[in-house]
Amino acid sequence: MRLMFIGDVVSKQGCEFLAKNIFDLKKEYGADILAVNGENSAPGNGITKSSLEMLTNCGADVITTGNHSFKRRESVHLYDECEYLLRPINYPDGVIGKGMYVLDLGRTQVAFINAMGVIYLEPIDNPFTAIDNALSKISTPNIFIDFHAEATSEKKCIGHYFTGRVTGVFGTHTHVQTADEMILGDHTAYITDVGMTGPERSVLGVDSDIATDKMRLHFPVMFEESKEPCFINGVVVDFDEQTGKARDIKRIIKR
Ligand SMILES: [Fe+2]
Ligand SMILES: [Fe+2]
Repeated sequence: MRLMFIGDVVSKQGCEFLAKNIFDLKKEYGADILAVNGENSAPGNGITKSSLEMLTNCGADVITTGNHSFKRRESVHLYDECEYLLRPINYPDGVIGKGMYVLDLGRTQVAFINAMGVIYLEPIDNPFTAIDNALSKISTPNIFIDFHAEATSEKKCIGHYFTGRVTGVFGTHTHVQTADEMILGDHTAYITDVGMTGPERSVLGVDSDIATDKMRLHFPVMFEESKEPCFINGVVVDFDEQTGKARDIKRIIKR
């Protein structure tokens, strides 16, 4: 069985470019399941009813998020209404939504956990403990983690700590794809960052001139999405759904 995971989709351009290409891409790689990080899918970050619909129409079976989960206050109710929309599982008790979803394909089940790092991000609950707790409640061997984090070291540690217990650990958040995809412990597919889906020649999806003004001159600026051509960043994992063992992980860059 094959899972395709697509990195942070940025704004309307990213959603539209994904919609235009995803069905051919799924066919090309023989993907059975599609997971997408949608934390930047709405213009100005976050996720809205309309960007959720766009990603759903792309065939997303599960949508993960991250530090921008609750950026759009008007849309937070979506996390309770949409069963396949996740926010990081290590938010404190009482926060709306959930960080785990089990996709039932009839002959097999595939579980997804979304968690967030705490280094250079908000100091929410310990992600190791939160994921450990989640794993104790999951019965399928097919488990994928979107670990949304800034520090490469924290992502590597999550990958190594859960080796042999999950099918895949995919880092997201930096919007820059890393070239370190590997199978850990002959079981767990791993990549430090899947990358992003949106304007390639930009600063993480933002217009490069505007982002540079902010960085160089400390101007208060309104970020605008770059109008440069988009690309898709993702990975495809081939795995044995009887054992939950990943056989192969491939990086995707589609221009
Ligand atoms: Fe992002
Ligand atoms: Fe993020």
